Amino acid sequence: MSKFKHIITVTMNPAIDLACQVPDFTAGKVNRVAGYQTDAAGKGVNIAVLLRKFDLPVTVTGFLGADNALIFEKLFSSKGLKDEFVRVPGETRIGVKVLDPDSGATTDINFPGLSPDAGHVDKLMQTVDNLADESSIVVIGGSLPATVSPAAVGQLVNVIKSCGAKAVVDTSGPALSSAIVAVPCLVKPNDAELSELVGRPLKKKEELVNEARRMNRSGIDTVVVSLGSQGALFISQEEEFFAKPPTINAVSTVGAGDAMIGGMVAGMALELSLRERACLATSLSAATVAQAGPSLEDIEIAKELEEQVVIETISF
Ligand SMILES: Nc1ncnc2c1ncn2[C@@H]1O[C@H](COP(=O)(O)OP(=O)(O)OP(=O)(O)O)[C@@H](O)[C@H]1O
Ligand SMILES: [Mg+2]
Repeated sequence: MSKFKHIITVTMNPAIDLACQVPDFTAGKVNRVAGYQTDAAGKGVNIAVLLRKFDLPVTVTGFLGADNALIFEKLFSSKGLKDEFVRVPGETRIGVKVLDPDSGATTDINFPGLSPDAGHVDKLMQTVDNLADESSIVVIGGSLPATVSPAAVGQLVNVIKSCGAKAVVDTSGPALSSAIVAVPCLVKPNDAELSELVGRPLKKKEELVNEARRMNRSGIDTVVVSLGSQGALFISQEEEFFAKPPTINAVSTVGAGDAMIGGMVAGMALELSLRERACLATSLSAATVAQAGPSLEDIEIAKELEEQVVIETISF
């Protein structure tokens, strides 16, 4: 591990999540909100918040709308995150989730996102280049704004590697393909994302393991394939594990994948073994699913669940 402990997370398409409970929600009529919660979110932001629970120094960057940045700025200062986000004219997208407690149905209303231009992308590359020089790990998380080319993700991975830092990527589609060509240190596709990447449906665990091994052989140190409530595969050159999460009462799966990345990255920074990292990441994810909202509030819940994680060595 590098002598620098600093971790950077990059979120190019953050969002403000507005979740509201509306009993008997009906389109075309006046609906009353019974309760609501607003969260500054986005994969890299959620991961950064979790990493702070381990007292690791974290800087956040990416693109943020200049017109509604306050909710993010408040979060960053309350969590002790260093803010190096590139401000872009306009508003960070808002995602409204309407939950009807009577029917159990949810309705999503997604606002359009920011439109960073080539100058903003260059500024982000420069920011990451400067920060990665004194960092051990840089995490790139989430989707891209429509105006940013998927090639930017591969370019970022190359910038990070040329600074001697480790690149961790959690994205999907063309952005993931672009990252993989640049050979990051860790990727965490879920089964659907891995299937899309290889261009055919991967159903059996054996097929998923084989594809993960192929990526591993191409130079990616650790490939994690997450399988929702079933658990996740952790594939490295030396070791291969399947981690089964404990049975929990699932409240909201929002942030499950982010908690898994957060656990893997915290484990890298703390120099844990792959088995220990798999256990930590799986317990953090399960604890996040067992509560509402994208970020795990009480890390003690994860510590209690850790004993119930079952780690199997893959033997085929
Ligand atoms: N119902 C559940 N119970 C326990 N653990 C869960 C549950 N759902 C998810 N997890 C844990 O969270 C991990 C990541 O979940 P998942 O595979 O759904 O990620 P994802 O599809 O990338 O999600 P995201 O939408 O957050 O990106 C799983 O590998 C598992 O360990
Ligand atoms: Mg995911």
